[in-house]
Parts: sequence; structure tokens; C-alpha cells
Amino acid sequence: MKNLVFATNNPHKIAEVKAIIGPDFAIRSLQDIGCHEELPETTDTIPGNALQKAQYVYDHYGVDCFAEDTGLEIEALGGAPGVHTAYYAGPQRSAVDNYNLVLSQLQGQSNRRAQFRTVIALILGGKVFTFEGIAPGHIAEQPAGEGGFGYDPVFIPDGYDQPFANLPYEVKNSISHRAKAMQGLLSFLAKL
Ligand code: IMP
Repeated sequence: MKNLVFATNNPHKIAEVKAIIGPDFAIRSLQDIGCHEELPETTDTIPGNALQKAQYVYDHYGVDCFAEDTGLEIEALGGAPGVHTAYYAGPQRSAVDNYNLVLSQLQGQSNRRAQFRTVIALILGGKVFTFEGIAPGHIAEQPAGEGGFGYDPVFIPDGYDQPFANLPYEVKNSISHRAKAMQGLLSFLAKL
């Protein structure tokens, strides 16, 4: 079994990636490599932040690793919150505040199209490789469901009539932005 260091402090992302990744790989967390600090994510793009997090871990801990950054892009808001998704409603980074702000900004708006975009940056022996996954869908009129995290109570993926938070875990992990980006990473690793 091959080990992969996933440069994130988000336990939801680790759980999803472990569920997606299958039996050939074992995910090592930042805790496992003794990294307990916040990773920097200060660039103004999603790919830039993914690379910044992976590069930080590679430079400070000397291990091959991958990181991901995810944004919610809403058509009627010109692509916002985008790179600001994590702290859209303020520095408290509250998921409920964030999705309530989105709901209030879309009040009376008929175009509710949105997508989640994940970019994974992999660093192998100092070389950088990136993989993208997009989940198209729309923003619900009101939140529903207890599953998932972040904006999952208000994001309804195409082909479904319920938000990610109200769909079985396996469904999200087979069609999500993160699942698609991970599939790109896994097929790249399988060819090495
Ligand atoms: P980051 O990629 O860790 O910067 O996270 C960006 C923001 O997107 C956070 O507020 C997360 O809650 C949110 N987010 C990331 N992935 C998902 C997801 O799969 N579903 C819902 N929200 C997400």
C-alpha cells in the first residue's frame, strides 16, 4: 500500500478523500508527519492556494504530498465567493453564516446556477502536477440536511433534487468536485 500525505487540517476533507481513494493508498495527515501549524493560503486563486499549501509542506517537511483548494462559484454573483469561499461572511469562517449570506444575496434571483471547483496540487520529487474537478449544480432556496460540511446544505448537484447534505455520503463521494479531482490524481499515480 502506498502512502500519500494530504496537506490539510480539514477533517471532513480527509474523511471524504479516504472514502474516495480505495484500498491501494493510505492517507497520512499533517498530524502524522508532525505538522501542527495552519497552512498559508493567501494567493488570489484556487490553484494558487492549492499549490501554496502543498509547497509549504514540501519545503518545511521534505515529503511528497498533495493539497487541495475548493471554491463555490455562483453565476449570478459573478463567480463569488470563489477563492473567498471559506470566509465569505467574515473571519469567523462559519459555515452557517457563509451559506446564509449566499442565500440572502440570491433572494429573488431566478438564476441560481453554481459549481464547486476543486484543484489538487501534487508535489512529487519537487515537480508540481495539478488536477481539477467541477461539480455543477444550483443553490437551494433554503438549507436542508445534516450530512457533509460547509455549503453542502444549500448546494444541489445536477441530476438530484436534494442538497449534498441530504444525499447519502457515497453519492457525494462519487459525483463531487473533490471526487473528480481525486480521480485525476489517482489515474495519474496509476500510470507512474
Ligand atoms: P478550503 O478549500 O479549505 O479553503 O475551503 C473553502 C471553503 O469551501 C470552506 O468554507 C469549506 O467549508 C467550503 N467547502 C470546501 N469543500 C466543500 C464541500 O465539499 N462542500 C461544501 N463546502 C465545501
